[in-house]
Amino acid sequence: QDRANGWGENVLVDIEDGIAWVTLNRPDKRNAINPGIVWEMNAVLDAVEEDDAVQVVVITGSGDAFSAGQDLKEYFREPDAGPPLDRERLYRANAAWQWRRMMYFPKPTIAMVNGWCFGGAFQVLIGCDLAIASEDATFGLSEINWGIIPAGIVTKSLAEVMSQRDAMYYIMTGETFTGAQAAEMKVVNMAVPASELRARTKKLADTLKEKNPFVLRSAKTAYHHVKSMPWDTALEYLMAKSDQTKYRDPERGDQKGMQQFLDDKSYRPGLQSYDR
Ligand code: ACO
Repeated sequence: QDRANGWGENVLVDIEDGIAWVTLNRPDKRNAINPGIVWEMNAVLDAVEEDDAVQVVVITGSGDAFSAGQDLKEYFREPDAGPPLDRERLYRANAAWQWRRMMYFPKPTIAMVNGWCFGGAFQVLIGCDLAIASEDATFGLSEINWGIIPAGIVTKSLAEVMSQRDAMYYIMTGETFTGAQAAEMKVVNMAVPASELRARTKKLADTLKEKNPFVLRSAKTAYHHVKSMPWDTALEYLMAKSDQTKYRDPERGDQKGMQQFLDDKSYRPGLQSYDR
């Protein structure tokens, strides 16, 4: 691991066959998010964004945890006792990677939830475009159990992805739910047996690798922006975004796609991707 680049102690990165496997690596502390993870994740996201060898990013945790949420000692107790500006800077840097960078990350991202997932870890989970959990992973909005509300921007994210009944239930009771339940509630796309988790995640990443990366990026950005737009504005925006995507796409995928279907008859877009 390259510590000179700003990670390697709390976060590991393995790039293999177009996929960056980013692992939160404090297994003894159940990968609780401390300032070290915050600074290292900001550096990692900058690096994998720029690295042409990376097409898809997977975030996971080492040992038996995805992440036990924010570190109660290093993220709360210690900064609470320090200078307020340092605390603010830390919290801003945390929101930067967990929310803003993840939501608008230009490459596809997948959360691979291998175990415990509590509190602040939900922001990482929801920040990823897609999520796959081990059926026996354990999720919980445990904030209420120690006397705080789900903050950072977790409550806002929950309101986007969970139904009101589910969100309020788990926010208010602090009860846990399993990966299988998370899939039923659509907090993750699917849950699979632990033994299949990595292979299933790789399969999903491989599917994303076949797609046109420039168009994938536009599709993600458009989804997040139109959510909060009025309908008329959304139509204008999407028409403009679509033209921008077509004409700025370095591989002019739409032309290839049309030619391979209409002229060459070499594939059917309803059933697969064009040959890039
Ligand atoms: N913050 C700080 N330290 C943590 C955290 C955390 N969020 N989670 C685990 N640890 C530490 C423990 O203090 C312990 O440290 P020690 O070995 O130095 O004593 C070590 O990790 C192992 O923890 P255990 O509780 O012994 O592990 P176990 O496997 O029995 O339980 C579990 C795992 C259920 C995740 C438990 O550690 C736990 O409840 N953690 C807190 C979960 C939580 O509420 N997170 C905060 C959410 S709120 C927010 O993120 C804003």
